Amino acid sequence: MTDLALELVSVTAGYGDNPIVREFSARLYAGTITTLIGGNGAGKSTLLRAIFGTNRHFSGQIVFKGETIEQLPPWERLKRGVGFVPQGRCNFPAMTVEENMKMGCYTLPAGRHVAAIERVANSFPMLRTKWRTDAGNLSGGEQQILEMAMVLLVEPTLLLLDEPSLGLSPKMQGDVFVTVQQVARTGVTVLVVEQNVRGALLISDRALVMEQGRLFMEGPAAEVRTDPRIRQAYLGGNIKQTAA
Ligand SMILES: Nc1ncnc2c1ncn2[C@@H]1O[C@H](COP(=O)(O)OP(=O)(O)O)[C@@H](O)[C@H]1O
Ligand SMILES: [Mg+2]
Repeated sequence: MTDLALELVSVTAGYGDNPIVREFSARLYAGTITTLIGGNGAGKSTLLRAIFGTNRHFSGQIVFKGETIEQLPPWERLKRGVGFVPQGRCNFPAMTVEENMKMGCYTLPAGRHVAAIERVANSFPMLRTKWRTDAGNLSGGEQQILEMAMVLLVEPTLLLLDEPSLGLSPKMQGDVFVTVQQVARTGVTVLVVEQNVRGALLISDRALVMEQGRLFMEGPAAEVRTDPRIRQAYLGGNIKQTAA
């Protein structure tokens, strides 16, 4: 529970000449779920991209498994175990679930594809029932689960999820949250950005709150959930015990 999986040390990152995330420091612990909360435009997606390496790094260290990775290109980070599911749809809609899973194996040696697909499909029985369906014909929640599965094929130890429940029905949001918990139980460390703050806090161990690119608050999710400032800003001023 307390093993460090990722440490951000005063990370400043952004685009072109514009630092968006500023001097952001945080620790993620192995096998736990951390949710990253913040208003629209706060810099949440920018922070996930910085961890994966798809935007500009200005300064600070990103320490993953004891190694600084901030100078490595994204594919090297992926090889070391950083998985990223960006915001919005990122599957191949005109290809079947099976074909998408094969695409997800592209960075693995050919000899490992069959076993990887078997392993991940076993953890997501829903995918097997849709094996020959085009990904574009799955529901939004099923597509999100497929996208997580595609990244899990390469066995990341850290999974970055950007708004996995965005645009989904409450029932589907629940399914996605259950899937995230299931992934974390296998030992994968999860950092999830969520617009469903209440739901995300309920499944998370810890929470980071970002405002204008800076860390505003951090702590156990249960504590952040009851903080009056968080309740006011993100939970509509009241607090319920059940997930949305
Ligand atoms: N690709 C990009 N190029 C330039 N600026 C960007 C890009 N993506 C986001 N930004 C800017 O970075 C800021 C934070 O955006 P983002 O990280 O997407 O916020 P959040 O995910 O918290 O809603 C915004 O001001 C946005 O305009
Ligand atoms: Mg975003």
